[in-house]
Amino acid sequence: MHSFAHHRPSRSGEASAKETKGLILNRGWRYDLMVWFIDTFLFRGQLRELRQRTANLAGIQPGEKVLDVGCGTGTLAIEVQSRVGRAGRVAGVDPGTQQIARARSKAARRTLPIDFQIGVIEHLAFPDQTFDVVLSTLMMHHLPDSLKRQGLSEIARVLKPGGRLVIADFKRKKERQGQAARFRAGGSGIQELAALVKDAGFSPVETEEMRLLRFSAFPGAGFVRAHKSSDEFAIC
Ligand SMILES: C[S@@+](CC[C@H](N)C(=O)[O-])C[C@H]1O[C@@H](n2cnc3c(N)ncnc32)[C@H](O)[C@@H]1O
Repeated sequence: MHSFAHHRPSRSGEASAKETKGLILNRGWRYDLMVWFIDTFLFRGQLRELRQRTANLAGIQPGEKVLDVGCGTGTLAIEVQSRVGRAGRVAGVDPGTQQIARARSKAARRTLPIDFQIGVIEHLAFPDQTFDVVLSTLMMHHLPDSLKRQGLSEIARVLKPGGRLVIADFKRKKERQGQAARFRAGGSGIQELAALVKDAGFSPVETEEMRLLRFSAFPGAGFVRAHKSSDEFAIC
């Protein structure tokens, strides 16, 4: 298995994961079953579409190094591995031990060399400028704002100059409409998220919304796509 060089050996991902103020999910295969059920019968495949679109927006190329932050059970990372090919590298980080165990077993079954680690967005155990792309789906609404800021500056640190960041998240309740407004998932304000990304030194920062299908309970989601400046001195 390929693995990335790690740093901060004195503070393990497991130790940081125990202290996070983020809302940890730890359901392993039950999470996958629940997501499959909800996506198939309530969301009409829109979660699957959200992941595909996240990878598409990042414009992932063969040979690139990609990190999925808050990777859960690894579904997006596995999709991304097929895009970067054997010359590329994919890593995924999540504090949920059962999520990571499930992600590792899914990758092992497919003999994919993905580096899944127990860890948190606020202390990414990778050296500066490791990745071409960082992705995150449906994770930001699990974090308080202070942690979002800390996490975004960690993402800026591990991205190479000119690297891309794509975040997908549910819309906040008051941004939703109709039946979706009654769905209970928490959400971020996509524009507020974009402002935090900008504050972390990314530019340009763009946003997009997912179209809502009729007869779907999907709560609505948006994307933030941003670039880390290729001027090394712009983000410090
Ligand atoms: C709704 S799940 C989304 C998982 C996956 N990205 C997906 O699209 O299926 C949110 C994930 O964020 C993780 N999480 C919570 N706090 C975190 C933190 N501080 N750093 C990284 N991930 C965190 C949870 O453990 C959970 O697996």
